[in-house]
Amino acid sequence: MSGTLSHTRPAAPAPTRTWRQVASRVREQRDYGAGHHWLSLDLPADFTSPVPGQFVQLLLDFPSPVLLPRPMSVASVEKRVKRLTVGFLYGPVGAGTRALARLARGATVHVTGPLGRGYPLEEPGTPLLVAGGRGVAPLLMAAGELAHRRRRCEFVFGARTASLLVGLDEARERLTRHRSRLHIATDDGSRGYRGNVLGLLDRIAPRLERPLVLHACGPHAMLAAVARWAMANGARAHLAMESVMACGTGVCRGCPLPRSESARARVRAEGAGHSLAGVAALRGNPEWAMCCTDGPVFEARELDWERVE
Ligand SMILES: Cc1cc2nc3c(=O)[nH]c(=O)nc-3n(C[C@H](O)[C@H](O)[C@H](O)COP(=O)(O)OP(=O)(O)OC[C@H]3O[C@@H](n4cnc5c(N)ncnc54)[C@H](O)[C@@H]3O)c2cc1C
Ligand code: FES
Repeated sequence: MSGTLSHTRPAAPAPTRTWRQVASRVREQRDYGAGHHWLSLDLPADFTSPVPGQFVQLLLDFPSPVLLPRPMSVASVEKRVKRLTVGFLYGPVGAGTRALARLARGATVHVTGPLGRGYPLEEPGTPLLVAGGRGVAPLLMAAGELAHRRRRCEFVFGARTASLLVGLDEARERLTRHRSRLHIATDDGSRGYRGNVLGLLDRIAPRLERPLVLHACGPHAMLAAVARWAMANGARAHLAMESVMACGTGVCRGCPLPRSESARARVRAEGAGHSLAGVAALRGNPEWAMCCTDGPVFEARELDWERVE
């Protein structure tokens, strides 16, 4: 494969605002294994359906140990007659997510969303989905959406060891139903390919029809490696990034990610003729992308991977 694919496409236009804040009720909360929980919330039926890769902000009812809402990727959407049920896979890692884990059926959670840009699943090419740890959940939703469009995918799922392949049985069952292929990698070889997802990508990519379009979700170190792999192999890659967030809607400018040189040049050129050209914060900052509104899904060539933390 050549490494010459240049970044010629402009970024997608900013999505029109579809988000709002609603009160939801906990429908289900259960242990999902590997230290994770599954949460289902019932939202009003007219809440805009999130697409794979989008997220919502979850704000706990008063009294809560945390002031700010917590961003969470959408992992499933089910339209019912009188409500929309939205599912999340999450790890209770701190005060906010631990308080979330204590909520019982019927408890109130305030939901703002849907937020951000999702995966461009319409992009032509062989979809190659790459999940690390809990990143499996939004990508299974993406695989379901691809199947709905009568497209199969290759699904690569990696973890340090087999016990950390969260939701593996469900992933296998759903991907079989979608007639897509699951490839597993563990660093210690306790399940599937011994090594990381990059070694597995090197192994399976030569058998796949070009062009390849990667969609990935997982720890930033894995996403940076997948981005570099895609750029070196002439593929496009869409990576779901995370950042500590406050507003989730582009207002507080608190979730910056470093833009690549080509993205900086593009944003400067776009801003030059703008009526707000002198007001960087209002027209978009050429140096920094906001994870919540420019992302959370970014094409590999949009970010400076040397400076992503
Ligand atoms: C767009 C987006 C989607 C996300 N989707 C999911 C998801 O589907 N499932 C899930 O479990 N988590 C997800 N997260 C991470 C989740 O929002 C954080 O784990 C959560 O905010 C932590 O809140 P807390 O109060 O429990 O922990 P805190 O007390 O705020 O922090 C506990 C620890 O988690 C770290 N942390 C906080 N926020 C993040 C973050 N964004 N990324 C990495 N580490 C963080 C802190 O540095 C600290 O070490 C997502 C984050 C973003 C930005
Ligand atoms: S979280 Fe406020 S701008 Fe992104």
